[in-house]
Amino acid sequence: MTQKNNLRFGVIGAGRIGKIHAENLATRVPRVEVAGIADVDLKAAQDLAAHLHVLVTVEDYHAILSNPAIDAVAICSSTDTHAKIIIEAAQAGKQIFCEKPIALDLETIDTALEAVEKAGVKLQIGFNRRFDPNFRKVHTMVAEGKIGTPHIVRITSRDPAPPPVSYINVSGGLFLDMTIHDFDMARYLSGSEVEEVYTTAGVLVDPAIGVAGDVDTAIITLRFANGAIGTIDNSRKAIYGYDQRVEVFGSDGMVQAHNNTTDNDVYFNVDGVHSAKPLYFFLERYMESFIAEMKEFAQSIRENTSPSVTGIDGRAPVAIGMAAKKSYMEHRPVKLSEITVPVLELK
Ligand SMILES: NC(=O)c1ccc[n+]([C@@H]2O[C@H](COP(=O)([O-])OP(=O)(O)OC[C@H]3O[C@@H](n4cnc5c(N)ncnc54)[C@H](O)[C@@H]3O)[C@@H](O)[C@H]2O)c1
Repeated sequence: MTQKNNLRFGVIGAGRIGKIHAENLATRVPRVEVAGIADVDLKAAQDLAAHLHVLVTVEDYHAILSNPAIDAVAICSSTDTHAKIIIEAAQAGKQIFCEKPIALDLETIDTALEAVEKAGVKLQIGFNRRFDPNFRKVHTMVAEGKIGTPHIVRITSRDPAPPPVSYINVSGGLFLDMTIHDFDMARYLSGSEVEEVYTTAGVLVDPAIGVAGDVDTAIITLRFANGAIGTIDNSRKAIYGYDQRVEVFGSDGMVQAHNNTTDNDVYFNVDGVHSAKPLYFFLERYMESFIAEMKEFAQSIRENTSPSVTGIDGRAPVAIGMAAKKSYMEHRPVKLSEITVPVLELK
């Protein structure tokens, strides 16, 4: 920490999400500052640094890790770099916030989590939707028994437009890149682990996504350990905007969270009844949650408490995503127990 008692963050990766986290850390999280930005694309780091008045920009993130003045890192680089940087950051004694997913296979994730445990540093994974006030309220109401015993969990999650194929190529594909948030929501909202999945999916949006070996549209059914069942439906392209809705139905009622819109005015005329579209994409829809997750991470460092989204929370949705992919490939329900690496027992 500096003399001002600020927590000093290094941001690694200055792309779409790196910009959001860097700006939030620099301007919206109290007693935190961004002390350096790293990106292999140095210009991306420099542009972001200029915007936020950050003095240190580097091409090689190791210069962030070896800087003793930096307390914590936000790993916002592409997915294929996360585990390696987590391991090196842990060995350097940095507190770690890392974007999802930790990695695309469980062995690599476990190696990263072991390094974190050994170093005794904190690791929070970027499942920001848990910090959305509407979804958090659904979670709390279910946990408090307000809807009785959960029977059905429904999650609709559709992007307004697909990312470039260059992104898809290193993303892990729909299930590990996009649905991973919904798998996390499924665990968070139901309060239970997923035991079995069945996936139907296809390429209905863009043939180039199929050429890249991925799908862009999917329905996944879930069976939970507590007996509840669920569905997730995904599309990479909803022409009306970012469609993000959840519902939990139970023995004593139901709780839903609808889309957030720019306003709640409803206009009636001869053509019909009109209201605003959903907020366009994750930047607009989840801004509050991105700020809240960083505030909580900073708080957990200051107060030396465990972050609420742990490494195990980062691992579980990857295992579900692997099962969902296997189910799609093999046209059959897949039990999570078939995804073989034993679950780590971390403190
Ligand atoms: N939580 C969310 O809602 C959310 C949203 C978007 C992306 N993400 C995740 O964030 C990560 C980045 O996604 P994005 O959309 O910002 O991608 P992006 O391609 O826009 O940005 C990634 C940046 O990382 C840089 N980079 C790559 N390797 C690097 C390295 N070794 N060192 C330093 N910089 C490096 C790239 O040059 C690029 O600027 C992905 O893992 C993605 O899954 C999470």
